[in-house]
Amino acid sequence: MLLFKKEKDLKAFIQQEKLAGKKVGFVPTMGALHDGHLSLMALSLETTDVTVCSIFVNPTQFNNADDLEKYPRTIENDIVMLETAGVQVLFLPSVEEVYPKNLTYPDFDFNGLDHLMEGEHRPGHFEGVAQVVYRLLDIVQPTDLFMGQKDYQQWRIIQSMLEQVDWDIKLVRCPIARATDGLALSSRNVRLTEEARQIAPKIRQILSKAKAEIQDLSIGEVKNNAVRRLNKIEAFKMDYFEIVDGQSLQLVKDKSNTQSLVACTAVYIANIRLIDNIILKAL
Ligand code: PAJ
Repeated sequence: MLLFKKEKDLKAFIQQEKLAGKKVGFVPTMGALHDGHLSLMALSLETTDVTVCSIFVNPTQFNNADDLEKYPRTIENDIVMLETAGVQVLFLPSVEEVYPKNLTYPDFDFNGLDHLMEGEHRPGHFEGVAQVVYRLLDIVQPTDLFMGQKDYQQWRIIQSMLEQVDWDIKLVRCPIARATDGLALSSRNVRLTEEARQIAPKIRQILSKAKAEIQDLSIGEVKNNAVRRLNKIEAFKMDYFEIVDGQSLQLVKDKSNTQSLVACTAVYIANIRLIDNIILKAL
């Protein structure tokens, strides 16, 4: 695997690959890699010629200095995982490399996509995400960008960002990789106690029930049932459960008016915050 730390070296390499007619897949990450991340790499490896993974813990998307400091950093293990998966290029830039002085970037308008759910919980978070993804795309200039449905709102915001710039980049939304018991893979799962880990798959079960009910019940009923089920589990502290339009990410009251519907939730187990979602109605 090739390792680049400098923008200009990576750019020169990618330019060569693109001139040779190769498709370049890009998977941005913050490291602490797990099989969820690897599922994105696998899709990129399958469908493009060169896969570039970036590992960069982006300071601008953390609204809390403590979270930034505590973010797990497992670079040696990450490198082994990427090598084993067959990823060709790792981009491992410093903060100075990603954010040189006098850097400017477009003023994006997300038209409310960033207001609810994670946006409400983490003010400024999605601005930071859009800023870093824009900057990384400007450096890597891939043909294909791979992002996980696990972070549905993030995926949708990046899709909107790409609509606002005129880059020819195909955005691929990758399915949520789950443990065999249904729990969505996340770097936070290792922090769960054994007991919490046993109960955590109930999040997915409750989302699946919502999907089963959406045919026959109103959105209000489906939501009430899900909230009731989440609140019934003593170990859970629900942060939110929302049924939103899959495009606008606004709350939906009447399902006949929308083309796509997604149920998104965030739940605390002890002090670990887990997010998950399910597509109730696809576009
Ligand atoms: P990170 O949390 O490292 O996630 C990197 C990518 O992996 C994201 O696209 C995320 O949705 C995807 N991912 C994580 N868990 C997954 C799972 N269980 N199944 C499928 N995909 C999964 O998201 C970020 O980093 C950052 O915000 C980033 C986009 C890199 C910008 O800094």
